[in-house]
Amino acid sequence: MSLTERAGLALLHRIDPERAHGLSLLALKAGLVSLPGPVTSARLATTLAGMALLNPVGLAAGFDKNAVAVGALSRAGFGFLEVGAATPLPQPGNPRPRLFRLTEDRAAINRFGFNNDGAEGIAARLAARVRGPVPVGLNLGANKESADRAGDFARVLAICGRHVDFATVNVSSPNTERLRDLQGPEALAALLAGVMAARGELALPVFLKIAPDLTDADLEAVAEVAVAAGIDGIIATNTTLSREGLHSAHRGEAGGLSGTPLFERSTRVLARLSRLTGGRVPLIGVGGVGSAEDAYAKIRAGATAVQLYTALAYEGLSLAARIARGLDTLLARDGFATVGEAVGTDRERWV
Ligand code: FNR
Repeated sequence: MSLTERAGLALLHRIDPERAHGLSLLALKAGLVSLPGPVTSARLATTLAGMALLNPVGLAAGFDKNAVAVGALSRAGFGFLEVGAATPLPQPGNPRPRLFRLTEDRAAINRFGFNNDGAEGIAARLAARVRGPVPVGLNLGANKESADRAGDFARVLAICGRHVDFATVNVSSPNTERLRDLQGPEALAALLAGVMAARGELALPVFLKIAPDLTDADLEAVAEVAVAAGIDGIIATNTTLSREGLHSAHRGEAGGLSGTPLFERSTRVLARLSRLTGGRVPLIGVGGVGSAEDAYAKIRAGATAVQLYTALAYEGLSLAARIARGLDTLLARDGFATVGEAVGTDRERWV
């Protein structure tokens, strides 16, 4: 991390976390953040559901909810980006404060509740971007007050689908009451059928993002339904409701927990999912990735690619490139010619 980045982070950590995040997005958009550009190598280059990636380290949903900084983020060293969640109509989300730093735990708790500019506004921004070598996907959400939440996912896809490289069905956010009920097998099958129909002719991979708090039986049912629906990949996982092992003052706040304390739980879910799906769909590992070692562990547990968010708040955006380069070194150390060769090689340790 550069001295400038360290100083910037120290300043940001003295103000309210949501404001700090807004300021980082503004700085990014204004070109005030120095960016490394693409990070790639023969070992890091890979394919995720048909998409060519320069490296397997992605930005998780929620960081750039409204797709305001896609240009800059595409030059930050990530191999792919996920923006959103977008809902059909704009909505303000839950009252503030709704984002909390758990510094001692290297974690965060958020209960944003899908605050966003709405599918039309976000589609316009995505349509205006210059497409480059870094795929950009959209996280699909549902409006809180919608009379047909399951249908909202297909609606957002119909509005935004032409302007993105992949889409993610997010039925795993804990911050919209009863949203996660849509992970139940019958509800999920119907919802996914609607989304796949909305995809229509678009050659667009559709992923499903799951919660880390599913029981083994639930996980098995979700995996079965997802594969049967023709889903192109599964993202494991979203934030957790668990509060195990936390020390920070804000540990009692309601919402989803992300960051280091989520690493083990989400990696176990990933490995189980890898065993359940047996390579039929690629998996994307998310939850507590804060170093190259963490990214490597997720890949060896079964992930074709990884994503991160919370660690960026503690380590700065330069972490993306550091993780990608460090991953290259770890793969070389262990004799892997490509990252693809390492996928799932240590899965059984995690299940
Ligand atoms: C998120 N996450 C998230 N996920 C999602 O599918 N849609 C969303 O809109 C959001 N919004 C969001 C906001 C904030 C403030 C945070 C911290 C997280 C979840 C995120 O994409 C990821 O799955 C988890 O945060 C776990 O990864 P990290 O943060 O531990 O790397």
